[in-house]
Amino acid sequence: MVTGAAGFIGSHVAEALALDGHEVIAVDALERAAAPGAARRNWAGLADRAGITLVEADLAADDLAKLAESDAVVHLAGRPGVRTSWGAGRALAERDNVTATRRLLAACRERGTKVVVASSSSVYGSAGTRPHREDDPPAPESPYAASKLEVERLAAASGLPVTVLRYFSVYGPRQRPDMAFHRFIEAALEGRPLPVFGDGTRARSFTHVRDVVAATAAAVALPGGATVNVGHPEPVTVRDAIGVLGRVLGVAPRVRGEEPVAGDAVKTWADAGRAARLLGWTARIGLAEGLREQVEWQRSTR
Ligand SMILES: NC(=O)c1ccc[n+]([C@@H]2O[C@H](COP(=O)([O-])OP(=O)(O)OC[C@H]3O[C@@H](n4cnc5c(N)ncnc54)[C@H](O)[C@@H]3O)[C@@H](O)[C@H]2O)c1
Repeated sequence: MVTGAAGFIGSHVAEALALDGHEVIAVDALERAAAPGAARRNWAGLADRAGITLVEADLAADDLAKLAESDAVVHLAGRPGVRTSWGAGRALAERDNVTATRRLLAACRERGTKVVVASSSSVYGSAGTRPHREDDPPAPESPYAASKLEVERLAAASGLPVTVLRYFSVYGPRQRPDMAFHRFIEAALEGRPLPVFGDGTRARSFTHVRDVVAATAAAVALPGGATVNVGHPEPVTVRDAIGVLGRVLGVAPRVRGEEPVAGDAVKTWADAGRAARLLGWTARIGLAEGLREQVEWQRSTR
């Protein structure tokens, strides 16, 4: 079962697992999505795929007993996003991250189902002079990050074989419309200045969704109990990423600075050692190749 299968990452994971020969139950609430239009489009794309059964269900409210009969659960459903988790967003993060995960884990308990859970690099806060390792103390700086830390705590306390994956700034085709590269590319394609929060010096371990899918599929085979960074080991500043994007698009992008976002880490930086050891995985896709794919996809949806 893949939860959040109408989402950016979940739709790719569901497709990849089905292509690998798994019988995939794809679960999503659709209208709970941060971008319901995008979720409906992804969902429609899964509808005629062999090996995928679509089930609309709200993990925070519906009866999950039947769903929990799956052999393994990849739990990607939730309310993502640091920026939108302030104010009224806090309750959404609480409901769709914490409550949904608590209910799902409870439903899995009877059969001892294996679970892979999506967490986030945001639980670390900002990186300093070295990459974040999984054992570093968490320092969440936003309601979203705090909700993901609570998800991790629930996973550890569940007694289930759970693997926690900390994803780092994922991009590529189907990226959510609220995310930076999606907004930059839309602006560039419309000849508008790129809306950049802060001065462009923030840095991210940007990780392509195909790399993320490979790590997630590999994690299903783990026995559970580990927390693993899923991130590109070389962070890139937003300014440099915009330079790469400009070269991909063949334009010199103009930038419009906006107020920095509270709770947005200055730098995320993944130590990739544990992922290499446990999953045999390293991020392979560089920013130029990855952004080219995302630009092609965004052009195709216009
Ligand atoms: N995209 C990233 O860069 C990133 C980074 C770190 C962690 N994550 C985590 O990875 C997961 C997937 O992220 P994404 O970018 O694909 O997000 P997304 O919003 O595209 O997908 C999440 C999906 O979960 C569904 N959902 C929300 N609440 C639900 C509920 N109560 N019941 C059933 N379905 C529900 C939504 O409808 C949506 O389709 C999330 O848990 C997110 O927090 C993402």
